[in-house]
Amino acid sequence: MAITVGRISIENPLMLSPLAGITIPAVRRLFWRLGVGLAHTEMVSCAGLIRDNGKTERMLHRAPDEGPLVLQLFAGDVKTLVGGAEVALSLGNHFQAIGINMACPMPKVLKKGAGARLLDRMDVAVDMVRELKSLGLPVWPKIRKIVPDGDGPDTLRFASALIDAGADNVGIHGRTAPQRYEGRSDPEEVLKVARRFPGMISASGDMTDFESISHMMDGGCVSVFMARGAISDPFVIPRIRSKMGYNIGNCPFPQEPTLEERAGLFASLAEDLLSLHGERVALVMLKRFMSGLFRGVPGCGPYKRSIASVSDWPQAMDLVLDWRRYFERGIWNERYGTEHGDARGGDPQAEAR
Ligand SMILES: Cc1cc2nc3c(=O)[nH]c(=O)nc-3n(C[C@H](O)[C@H](O)[C@H](O)COP(=O)(O)O)c2cc1C
Repeated sequence: MAITVGRISIENPLMLSPLAGITIPAVRRLFWRLGVGLAHTEMVSCAGLIRDNGKTERMLHRAPDEGPLVLQLFAGDVKTLVGGAEVALSLGNHFQAIGINMACPMPKVLKKGAGARLLDRMDVAVDMVRELKSLGLPVWPKIRKIVPDGDGPDTLRFASALIDAGADNVGIHGRTAPQRYEGRSDPEEVLKVARRFPGMISASGDMTDFESISHMMDGGCVSVFMARGAISDPFVIPRIRSKMGYNIGNCPFPQEPTLEERAGLFASLAEDLLSLHGERVALVMLKRFMSGLFRGVPGCGPYKRSIASVSDWPQAMDLVLDWRRYFERGIWNERYGTEHGDARGGDPQAEAR
């Protein structure tokens, strides 16, 4: 059963949040395999696109077979935002919506007047939505919880203004900008807006389990943006999707994945990383995802440590393809026992050769 979010038809409401340095095409492919309903690009600089910066343009690349994808842009003024969006759309990549980052708290973005700086400049934020709408695609701004300064807008007033200007979906991260990524996200602040605008708000912040996601969806959110929780445990997507009753028959990993399925997904990620991003990026990202893909597997500590310690791609690929030697032949289990493999450690490469 398809649902419509921000004028986009999607299969389920679990979305991969925009993550700078992470939601690159190979990683998005991993999450498509795991069953997300929609994904975001990393935030892309409009100034970089206008400058004809090849590196920025490469961030617009779409891998084969991707599902609904939101291109997230950032800029400090309306002209740059719209100019960058026009460049992006002229390059022939197809996106289902354009997101505007009004949430990033990092100094290098703030000092350009972009990201969460826009939360102090509601008039500019509203103009951005209005002008971007003229390009015809759905517009998805993403904001944060706002604690009003004097008679400045709070989260509800800010989101209302964006919706009045034509925003099709507003993502709200329940942490304030000064909080950055620390402490808990405030679900009630997001729900306050969702109750006022049911079906138009996507919740971000600590969307890591079925209970917290159900709480937001039951309260009127139309979808959730999954971020750090999904990176540290990617299989949370099919687990929650299945619990929510979305497309169970077609769900790739409705139960706990087998070791073979984990290793297969890991190998597919490795192939995609190499072919889409090259060895340097591939090695960094493979190490980043290894832990999550083998999370909770008894005796996998030494395997994880081996991959973490390799310094070149051929070595990494040997380990990716040779996973059986570590697990199935029971080298670790024989020596260290299945229950306590992680705790006792050892040198897997020496052991396996
Ligand atoms: C490494 C990292 C990169 C991020 N990059 C972006 C980004 O490019 N655009 C954006 O809107 N939010 C970005 N975020 C924020 C996340 O999308 C999300 O809103 C936030 O992490 C809260 O969700 P969580 O508590 O589930 O991690 C980033 C967060 C992290 C940790």
